[in-house]
Amino acid sequence: SMPKLLVARAMFPDVLAQLSNFFELELNQEDRIFSQSELAERLQGKFGMICTSSAKVDQDLLSKLSGVKIISTIAVGYDNFDLHACTQHGVMATNSPDVLNETTADFAWALMMATARRVTEAEHFLRAGLWTKWSVDFFVGADLHGSCLGILGMGRIGQAIARRASGFGMEVIYHNRSQLSEEKELAAHHARYVDKQTLLRHADHLILALPYSPEVHHIIGAIELAQMKPSATLINIARGGIVDDAALIQALRNGQIAGAGLDVFENEPRFHADFLGLKNVVLTPHIASATERTRRAMVNRAVKNVISAVRGELPPDLLNPEVLEI
Ligand code: GLV
Ligand code: GLV
Repeated sequence: SMPKLLVARAMFPDVLAQLSNFFELELNQEDRIFSQSELAERLQGKFGMICTSSAKVDQDLLSKLSGVKIISTIAVGYDNFDLHACTQHGVMATNSPDVLNETTADFAWALMMATARRVTEAEHFLRAGLWTKWSVDFFVGADLHGSCLGILGMGRIGQAIARRASGFGMEVIYHNRSQLSEEKELAAHHARYVDKQTLLRHADHLILALPYSPEVHHIIGAIELAQMKPSATLINIARGGIVDDAALIQALRNGQIAGAGLDVFENEPRFHADFLGLKNVVLTPHIASATERTRRAMVNRAVKNVISAVRGELPPDLLNPEVLEI
């Protein structure tokens, strides 16, 4: 009989048809979020799983399972996986990188532009019927062109964000675990490596594009926000938890920074209710990679990973190659 695959979230029908050539499928087309105990139950006896960031694969879950060979997430971020535990349990872990870089960079710009130019705030004003006159200080915001763009986390998405700055004549500075090669810096609109303090102090617009890990938990908190310009905007398209949301709310209230554009939140899909009472924040529900073409490409990548595994081939996006030595 065919190996079994859990498709833990709702999936395109043609993709399911493709997968059914290789696997006996267990589906969740109603797209419920499984509890940890239900996830363990459903994963029992499976060869693998296709999931999203909502599936937490940790020591506790893995210790309840046997025979699982691969977990494949439809996301570039894999902070929901304990890679060390996966390796210990002989489970290959894969993600879906690269195909979302340009789409995610586009969205970082959409959020930055909407935040700097107060697009959603102005639209709410119009929709509420409050527009009675035009005045010289009407919804004045901050320029992007000619300003300094700061990027924290200069991986493939950060570099794609930086490239777009050339059309706006922006200076780009960045901070990252390590400095890019000169060639990569040139390609990223001559991005200049700076320390974190300099990044915070000089950026007119600061975009967060780093992966989440416990080491970067609240790396942007009250102290960091206090170092930013009062005219600055902060954009997060990375992960909740990188920013201390409570501290950000205080900074937005006190005018310590001018505005924020947030696609990700601590504990999403829940979020700090106080954001809703602030005008100087643009809020979106984790949609930075959400274009038709890119979501398809991410799914295809997740599918390719599980099919490679079942064929005994190396999954192209294997995150824990150490597992092969076990
Ligand atoms: C978001 O990345 C999700 O798939 O839950
Ligand atoms: C989405 O958040 C992703 O990690 O791809």
